[in-house]
Amino acid sequence: MLRICVCVSGGGTNLQAIIDKVESGVITNTEIAAVVSNNPGAYALERARQHGIPAVCVSPKSYESREAFNQALLETIDSFRVDLVVLAGYLVVIPPKLVKHYRNRIINIHPSLIPSFCGTGNYGLAVHENALKRGVKVTGATVHFVDEGTDTGPIILQKAVEVKDGDTPESLQLRVMEEAEWEILPLAIDLIANNRIKVEDGRTVRTDR
Ligand code: GRF
Repeated sequence: MLRICVCVSGGGTNLQAIIDKVESGVITNTEIAAVVSNNPGAYALERARQHGIPAVCVSPKSYESREAFNQALLETIDSFRVDLVVLAGYLVVIPPKLVKHYRNRIINIHPSLIPSFCGTGNYGLAVHENALKRGVKVTGATVHFVDEGTDTGPIILQKAVEVKDGDTPESLQLRVMEEAEWEILPLAIDLIANNRIKVEDGRTVRTDR
């Protein structure tokens, strides 16, 4: 049974997709051990509580230094004895110590087809604003392992989404969430829970094909 900790910062729609698919059996062999947020007001924490999942807030504002926060975050995640950390709309920079401790055991959902529209400054709505500004006809979402860089770890899954004439950043964000994020993040968790993914030379390989 894969024990996961889901890290969140906002509304938690990706978390909700994971909860729903674990409960319905679409995601197999997986248990959500905890939800951790940096934001005490994150509705994602309420979503967790509604499903009886331990939900804790570890806020940088509660610590004297970034180093103290980083240590508290690591200790909190460790305390839940998880196999996989899932970043689902988590807007905190993951400390190198955590990446090292959970090498190839942290995954992130990014709302574009990496390497497009990623890296510093490309998060949340800004990703879709930049895609519309560039005039791309296809965008999408990416699930990747987290390494020391920003959106640079081995790609696990991607799904393309059409950009439509008249799209606003908000309408595009919603389509990418509905058609891509809420599908591929749960799928990635199920693949990992069933040992169907491995990393070779910095890229992922399916072991079930
Ligand atoms: C989404 O756009 C997601 O792609 C990004 O964070 C945003 C909020 O996601 N990573 P959620 O509703 O909190 O899951």
